[in-house]
Amino acid sequence: MCGIVGYTGRQAAAAVEPSTRPLEVVMEGLRRLEYRGYDSAGVALVAPGFDQVAWAKKSGKLSNLAAVIDASPLPDATAAIGHTRWATHGGPTDLNAHPHLADDGRLAVIHNGIIENFAELKAELLDQGVTFLSETDTEVAAQLLARNYRSAGNLTEAMRITATMLRGTFTLLAVHTDNPHTVVGARHDSPLVVGIGEGENFLGSDVAAFIAYTKEAMELAQDQIVTITPDSIDIIDFTGARAEGKRYTVDWDANAAEKGGFSSFMDKEIHDQPQAVADTLRGRTDASGHIQLDEIRIDEALLRSVDKIIVIACGTAAYAGQVAKYAIEHWCRIPVEVELAHEFRYRDPIVDAQTLVVAISQSGETMDTLMAVRHAREQGAKVLSIVNAHGSTIPRESDAVLYTHAGPEIAVASTKAFLAQITAAYLLGMYLAQLRGNKFSDEIDALLRELRAIPEKVETVIQRGEYVKATARSMKQATSVLFLGRHVSYPVAMEGALKLKELAYIHAEGFAAGELKHGPIALIDEGQPVFVIVPSPRSRTGLHSKVVSNIQEVRARGAKTFVIAEDGDDTVVPYADEIFWIPQAPTLMQPLLAAIPLQIFAMELATVKGLDVDQPRNLAKSVTVE
Ligand code: AGP
Repeated sequence: MCGIVGYTGRQAAAAVEPSTRPLEVVMEGLRRLEYRGYDSAGVALVAPGFDQVAWAKKSGKLSNLAAVIDASPLPDATAAIGHTRWATHGGPTDLNAHPHLADDGRLAVIHNGIIENFAELKAELLDQGVTFLSETDTEVAAQLLARNYRSAGNLTEAMRITATMLRGTFTLLAVHTDNPHTVVGARHDSPLVVGIGEGENFLGSDVAAFIAYTKEAMELAQDQIVTITPDSIDIIDFTGARAEGKRYTVDWDANAAEKGGFSSFMDKEIHDQPQAVADTLRGRTDASGHIQLDEIRIDEALLRSVDKIIVIACGTAAYAGQVAKYAIEHWCRIPVEVELAHEFRYRDPIVDAQTLVVAISQSGETMDTLMAVRHAREQGAKVLSIVNAHGSTIPRESDAVLYTHAGPEIAVASTKAFLAQITAAYLLGMYLAQLRGNKFSDEIDALLRELRAIPEKVETVIQRGEYVKATARSMKQATSVLFLGRHVSYPVAMEGALKLKELAYIHAEGFAAGELKHGPIALIDEGQPVFVIVPSPRSRTGLHSKVVSNIQEVRARGAKTFVIAEDGDDTVVPYADEIFWIPQAPTLMQPLLAAIPLQIFAMELATVKGLDVDQPRNLAKSVTVE
């Protein structure tokens, strides 16, 4: 949930001289990681001759920390660590902000995760006369590390010992004045990647921390300790055995993670959606047009034997899974259950070797989903993850991964990842249908042609966005909005409600349109805004007329109806106060288009209410705590 950065480097070819670079690098990294949490921020610096760590920390956004540093500048340094926080233990206060110091101010520690046994460790340290300034679990880790450092005499060994004493999830970074050219990190369940530079090295929660300086990265596996100096990267596991990190080159550049001229990351990412769908499709068919998913390293015989699919995910990713359910069941004739990961994790699911569990996650770090992945594998299931963030934890703990290629999604509210997740899930469904013989190759080709036509149609819907924005501005006073959809658009209705909740802080609820008459219709009174997603009149589901009837039902009771309908579907005109037209598309492809007006509506309503579109209150981009 938090963002962490570490840096150590030499400036000149010769000796490592203190400079402003460590602080500059860490602050730039924190700026790019702020979407991971922004309750507070802090930095710690070391250099030869320091008898204490130099540090600054402040509650609130990174700009608050920058102001503190401007007011009382920090000294030049040779190594630094930095942290943006999403509060778990202890409120977002200055005292609880990271870094946390120990060893008489000579040691600084930052942390991402939750240490579950911090209370017993704290009690033990208190008994030994240690005093604490904050309410955090991180300060306990800092004091424990200090104690272990005094006995081990080596920061790497002390970190290893400390890591074996902690339970829960943690990525820890530490600097000590005794080793002013060194940063030591440890990871268990929370993410940590190494950035490899020339005469300098980096650590970060994800590659955004150092993408401005290097694209050469190294994955750290579970339960590893990394020690970086300007010219070395050493890795051991928690037993002390030497280990090797897996190098890779980051496939997007620093600019891709910037706003590109848009007013917000979310606006940029809505506009990225045609490319996100196209890139996720790219390279996934062979010369003859057959689906080829090279990265899926699950035995084909096993995939043919799969008799159940369980999708596990949270939030928007879960809604993408629900959309995919309709397609995969229709194409593959395999039952698909969609489970909220945090529910799946704690029930006794019926899972066996013939169950394929599909974990969908943009960040690849969602703790609820990661724990559900582990639970599924313990039960004997194969896990295939559909993830956007390359090198993240969930793919590393899955049997196979199908990456979406949406590029970095910075805005907390997910948009392009949603479309990319549906696209990837559709590719998986077509792959299984092709492998299992449920669909002839010409049928697969037809489906692929429909998918390949989507990016252009997405662009068309985006270009119609101004009308949606004008409607949103007129709804500034709305306090409750309902969203109706049927069949494959029912999850889209729920996604539209989630966007409005998390962006405009308005109560919103998505319903299956057929469910309205079983109770929720009592909510309808004069002027109640209701969005309705109408299937194509050409849809063979027979649902078009029923959904039009649903619009009449709510309109008759005073609702203000906002209808999403296919170009040319004039049947809806008499019953719609506003119509957001989308291009014609096959039934199963409609979610990739219908979601976009809902994204734009929520973004614009949040904007007109003066809210932070990219970093809504109480939220973080990656929920790495259970
Ligand atoms: C979506 O707008 C939300 N930010 C949230 O529901 C998110 O989809 C959920 O936390 C899952 O995140 P993940 O895809 O990174 O696992």
